[in-house]
Amino acid sequence: MKSTFLKAGGAVAVAAVIVIGWHVRPLAAPPWTDAEINVLRSLSLASLPELPPDPSNAVADNPDAAAFGERLFFDPRLSANGGISCATCHQPVRHFTDGLPKGQAIGTSKRNTPSIVGSAYSPWLYWDGRRDSQWAQALSPLEDPNEHGSSRLEVVAVVAGDEAYRASYEALFGEFGNISGDDPVALNTAFANVGKAIAAFERTLLPAASRFDDYVAALNTGDVKEQETLFSDDEVQGLRLFIGKANCTQCHNGPLFTNNEFHNTGVLSSPGELPDKGRAIGVREVLADPFNCFGDYSDDPKRQCAELTFVRTGPELIGAVRTPSLRNVEMTSPYMQKGQVATLAEVLRHYNEAPDAMIGHNEAKPLALGTRERRQLETFLKTLTAADAVRQFDSM
Ligand code: HEC
Ligand code: HEC
Repeated sequence: MKSTFLKAGGAVAVAAVIVIGWHVRPLAAPPWTDAEINVLRSLSLASLPELPPDPSNAVADNPDAAAFGERLFFDPRLSANGGISCATCHQPVRHFTDGLPKGQAIGTSKRNTPSIVGSAYSPWLYWDGRRDSQWAQALSPLEDPNEHGSSRLEVVAVVAGDEAYRASYEALFGEFGNISGDDPVALNTAFANVGKAIAAFERTLLPAASRFDDYVAALNTGDVKEQETLFSDDEVQGLRLFIGKANCTQCHNGPLFTNNEFHNTGVLSSPGELPDKGRAIGVREVLADPFNCFGDYSDDPKRQCAELTFVRTGPELIGAVRTPSLRNVEMTSPYMQKGQVATLAEVLRHYNEAPDAMIGHNEAKPLALGTRERRQLETFLKTLTAADAVRQFDSM
């Protein structure tokens, strides 16, 4: 709701600008340079390109597959105890996260539950990028003993045994083959198709415009009054730090605030746990995954797998994880791959100090930001919240 965003006294501040003039207003931020405005545009959702096609999934953009996948996403019958669905951990009201340090289902997941909104834009899934498509990713929680705890045999049996599911499945993929388990290829094909339907649903989960995007739109039109209404001075200063002194855009760049690359930022491991090797292991796992882009279950006859062919390896990936999107970050606490950091204020303290990594090498440098600057950065991060993205699922 836009009115929530109006600053108390905003009209008074605007009037003061007109009367006193921009340059003498005590706390007013200087206007942005053209170069800065270009950076801000590159971060705005208006710069988000169209969804990259997924040739490995023939139903990726099929609305019937998305509707089928949505039902599967919310269906606890796909779990071993009949009580867990994808939405147990990826809750729409929490921007598809769960508010916990680590995912909790039949057991405890190894890492923090990330949002899945906009994940169709990433060539890699999971913190360590151990899957290379949304559909290949969707298969793993179903068989993870800590998550759904089921098996491909049971999952496919549930789908084939439900009249409505069976009809949806066969309309999209044709009749089930021999799914008794005697024919692994037929079973894997059906299992992969379940993942492909879920992925078609996930592709529809895209971020909505936040106050930050409205602010960039107001910069584009040169509407100073609207800019003042949308952003406080602290938020402008926080944004200035984000793209400048604090160097956050080195990794959190583009309209999703992530470069989708792997970095070591020296985050401490959870108490009692060994440091996580992150991408160094993830790269091996994605290359070994039978459902990867090169595998037999891809729908792309040309096997266009540039990401996997040219995958980056090397010692710098030890302890590196994928840069998370910062859209809606206000709603996705606790933070970092193990949920080891509770608040945004603590995240910013971490970046300010840039401690030595427990494993590998911390790429971030200490920042020497004062308390006020860290508070301004935090205030800015909260302008990336977009309630609309969530509201569409409120009823579920
Ligand atoms: C027990 C909680 C839990 C359940 C149930 C669960 N997830 Fe997740 N999900 C996680 C965690 C934790 C991660 C991160 C794990 C990691 O990176 O090692 C994750 C990662 C993901 C990602 C990667 C997002 C990204 O940007 O990297 C996607 C997509 C996803 N899950 C979709 C699903 C789907 C689809 C289902 C149902 C089939 C599901 N999840 C079930 C907890 C869960
Ligand atoms: C060198 C690349 C890099 C830089 C620079 C960087 N980040 Fe990050 N950021 C990451 C990575 C990687 C993670 C995940 C780290 C982890 O979980 O261990 C992360 C995590 C975060 C998180 C937690 C998000 C979540 O959902 O858990 C926030 C918030 C964040 N960064 C904000 C910032 C801010 C603000 C700055 C600037 C002060 C910044 N980052 C600079 C790469 C970077």
